[in-house]
Amino acid sequence: MIYSKIIGTGSYLPAKVLTNYDLEKIVDTSHDWIFSRSGIVERHFAADNELTSDLALQASLKAIEAAGIDANEIDLVIVATTSPDMSFPGTACVLQGKLGIKNGGPAFDIQAVCGGFIYALNTADMYIRGGQAKTVLVVGAEVLSRMLDWNDRTTCVLFGDGAGAIILRASATPGIVAAKLHADGSHRDMLKADPFISMDGKSVFKFAVKVLSDVVEEILDEKNLSGADIDWLVPHQANIRIIEATAKKLGMDMAKVVVTVDRHGNTSAASIPLALDTAVRDGRIKPGQNILFEAVGGGFTWGAVLIRW
Ligand code: UT7
Repeated sequence: MIYSKIIGTGSYLPAKVLTNYDLEKIVDTSHDWIFSRSGIVERHFAADNELTSDLALQASLKAIEAAGIDANEIDLVIVATTSPDMSFPGTACVLQGKLGIKNGGPAFDIQAVCGGFIYALNTADMYIRGGQAKTVLVVGAEVLSRMLDWNDRTTCVLFGDGAGAIILRASATPGIVAAKLHADGSHRDMLKADPFISMDGKSVFKFAVKVLSDVVEEILDEKNLSGADIDWLVPHQANIRIIEATAKKLGMDMAKVVVTVDRHGNTSAASIPLALDTAVRDGRIKPGQNILFEAVGGGFTWGAVLIRW
């Protein structure tokens, strides 16, 4: 049996930080409103000359270093992003070029918005288990700051930029042990970017709490596990109240949930690998633990991945 194991993680946040107090000077809002509704305190914004692939490159270099591999061992590059450098070529191809990977392995983007990293991880796992790839670079990278409508205070205060990366490798031991993906396009207008992000926040909130509770239950049921068996929940970081609702559903104490929404805001496809890298590097996530990822995003897309670390 072939499994996919995460052997290295990395992340990158642009240098520029905007606190809620900085936003008070730009839009009609307040720190208290943003913090009480979302849990966000600050977010990072890319510099004018920084592209999604630049953020992805920095995160990838750290993941490659942590994994102790040479970039040319990577035989598949997947970038989950909803804010690509340009319409084409795909950001994964740009990243492959910037990393100097010359082995001719495939490289493509996945566009599933905030669910993107879960979709990309599942896709990479399929390639490995199907024998078509051995060492995969999976990245979530976003420059959402360029998609914000500064006249819409209900959305512009919620998002940030950043990138997270993992190296996934074929292994005889687990690994990714389960994945569940879903989509429902009938709600496509509830959260979209055309070209700026717009959202029916209340409806998205209700939908998110419902489907995340359902999908974590679905994945745990399949493996005959309960919330008590999970060492760390690493959720998509959109809103602390959504994260708390999912943890409650799992019967998990918030002390076992990795939270970075306060410092990163909502970084869409980048949020899980950013949170993961934080908890790996500060020593919370350790070998042998059960780690659960979950996310929901525009589309809607949603899903969960269960990992034996
Ligand atoms: O990545 C996945 C997708 N995204 C999400 O998961 C986000 C889901 N939704 C949410 O997180 C929340 O719905 C929000 C944080 C967006 C909003 O929280 P809420 O508790 O649903 O607030 P609300 O939309 O009911 O707004 C309440 C009030 C309104 O004023 P009135 O009509 O009650 O007088 C808004 O006009 O807050 C006002 N408001 C603001 N006030 C200060 C809206 N935006 C702001 C703002 N600053 N930025």
